[in-house]
Amino acid sequence: MNPAIAHLAPLLGIWRGDGHGEYPTIKSFDYTDQWEFVDVGKPFLLFIERTWNADGAPMHTETGYIRAPSPDTLEIIAALPTGQAEMGTGSCESDAERLNLVTDAQVLNTPTAKRVDQIVRRYEMCGDELAYEMEMSAVGEGLTLHLRARLTRQG
Ligand code: HEM
Repeated sequence: MNPAIAHLAPLLGIWRGDGHGEYPTIKSFDYTDQWEFVDVGKPFLLFIERTWNADGAPMHTETGYIRAPSPDTLEIIAALPTGQAEMGTGSCESDAERLNLVTDAQVLNTPTAKRVDQIVRRYEMCGDELAYEMEMSAVGEGLTLHLRARLTRQG
């Protein structure tokens, strides 16, 4: 793998678990969550998220890249099927067992999308456990929690 992202190697593979969503303007919901982090040999990770409801019907999905300009800085670029493009910067703290990633992004919206202005993501990986929170500023609300999930490494 490209040495620029060697410190992100523990993320590679498939993670699955359960998530919970909420926002002041919507009804809370639960979801099954799957993240895959892929190494393509370049100095970034590709990620693909897929989610399902309790009946197995597909919910949100997204795909993007985590770039690592240095061992302790990040850039995120992601495409959201709800009509947003997310672009931001972040930080990475890592040791032998743990990885803590934080990103803070601005958002471009397509004309018919619900308006999202900011997305903040926090990922905490420890061994085979991965937890994250996502806050967003959207539809006129300030930065507020939308998602929280806990996943475990598969295979
Ligand atoms: C970066 C990722 C995401 C963004 C930017 C985002 C954004 C939004 C926005 C703007 C709304 C509309 C709120 C309103 O109408 O007042 C919303 C609603 C909702 N989101 Fe998300 N969301 C994301 C991820 C997810 C994920 C992972 C799930 C579930 C698996 C999810 C499920 C929902 C549901 C069920 C609603 C309420 C019904 C609906 O509008 O479809 N979202 N989200």
